[in-house]
Amino acid sequence: MWAVKHPPASALAAAAAADVVRSRAAPPQRARISTAIAGAGKSVSSQKPLHLPSLDGVGFFRAAAEGARWRRDDVAAGALEADGVSLPSEGGDAVAKSAAAKKVKIGIYFATWWALNVVFNIYNKKVLNAYPYPWLTSTLSLATGSLMMLISWATRIAEAPKVDADFWKVLFPVAVAHTIGHVAATVSMSKVAVSFTHIIKSGEPAFSVLVSRFLLGEAFPPGVYLSLLPIIGGCALAALTELNFNMIGFMGAMISNLAFVFRNIFSKKGMKGTSVSGMNYYACLSMMSLVILTPFAVAVEGPQLWVSGWEKAVAEIGPHFVWWVAAQSVFYHLYNQVSYMSLDEISPLTFSIGNTMKRISVIVSSIIIFHTPVQPVNALGAAIAILGTFIYSQAKQ
Ligand code: 3PG
Repeated sequence: MWAVKHPPASALAAAAAADVVRSRAAPPQRARISTAIAGAGKSVSSQKPLHLPSLDGVGFFRAAAEGARWRRDDVAAGALEADGVSLPSEGGDAVAKSAAAKKVKIGIYFATWWALNVVFNIYNKKVLNAYPYPWLTSTLSLATGSLMMLISWATRIAEAPKVDADFWKVLFPVAVAHTIGHVAATVSMSKVAVSFTHIIKSGEPAFSVLVSRFLLGEAFPPGVYLSLLPIIGGCALAALTELNFNMIGFMGAMISNLAFVFRNIFSKKGMKGTSVSGMNYYACLSMMSLVILTPFAVAVEGPQLWVSGWEKAVAEIGPHFVWWVAAQSVFYHLYNQVSYMSLDEISPLTFSIGNTMKRISVIVSSIIIFHTPVQPVNALGAAIAILGTFIYSQAKQ
C-alpha cells in the first residue's frame, strides 16, 4: 500500500521506508526503484503515493539546511511503505534488509530526539520558573552547544567541517532567524505553560503557507489552504481558553513561528550544494547565533540582573540549581543535534510529522509534570491544531 491514511503511525513508517530505500540505493538503483514504484502504484493502490514536499513548514528548515545531502532530486520521486512494495529482484533482498535495519535506526533516532526534547523542555521551564531570564538561558544553550562541538572537533570525536567565508555569509540570515526564533520561544516559555507555547508552535505551517503565498507568490493545492482552518482555528481556541494566557508568551510563540519560517526560506535558498553534515551544520549555526545573541542578551537583561537573580534562585532551589541550567543547555544542544542527525537519514515530510509528534510528547508530558490546568475545550483546541498539521503534511505532498 502506498498512501498514508493515518498520519501518526503509518506516515512515519511509509516515509521512513522511502527514505531508507532512497538513501541506501545507488543512483541507478534509485532510478529503478522509482520506476518500480511508479509501476506498482497503478496495480497496488489508486491512492496518491507519498510525495515528499519542498522545504517549508514545521521544522523544514533543517531539511533545507541539508538540501544537498537529502538528494533533492529524490524528493519528488515518491515514497513507498516497507510492507507494500515489491522491490526489483536484483539486489532486492539486500535493499530490503538494509531498509529494515535503517528503519530501526530511524526509530531509535526519533525516540531519542523526542525524549531529549521532553527533558530539555522540563529543565528549561524549571530554570525559567526560578530564574526568569530567558535571554541569558537562550544564550547559555547556544554557548554550551558551541563549546561541546569545539571540544568534539579538537579531540577528533567529530570531524570538523571544511567551511569557507561564503558558507558563513550564507549562514548569516539563517542564524539571525534562528536566533530570533530561539529567543522568542524561550521568552514565551518564561511567561506561559510549556504546553501552551508548543500548541501555538504547532501552528508553524500556517505561517509558512501565508508567508510563501503573500510574500513569495507561491501557490498551493486547495487542501493545503483548507488545512489552515483547523490549524488556525485550533490554536485560536486553545489561546482563547488558556487559563494562564499571557500576551508576551503568546506573541513570543507567534514570533518564533514567523522567524522559523524565514529561517526555512533563507536556508532553502542558501544551502544548495553544501556538503556539511547535519551535526556540523547545526554546530556552525549555534556558534553564529551565539555571536549574534550575546550583545542583545547583555543589553536586554545584563549582568546585574543575572547575578542578583542567580543568588535568589540558588537561595530558593539550592546549589544544585546550576545542574538544572547545565541540563537545559546540554539537552537543548543534544535534541537539536539528534534531530539534524535524523535528517541525514529522512525526508522533510518524515521530519515534519516527527516534529509534530514531538510536540504532542512535550505537551502531554509537561501538562503531567507541571500539573498544568487544562480545560476540555482547551485540550480540544490543541487536538484540532495538531490534527491540522497532520492534514497539512498530507495535503502538501
Ligand atoms: C527553541 O528554544 O529554539 C525552541 O524551544 C525550539 O523549539 P522547537 O525545536 O520545538 O521548534
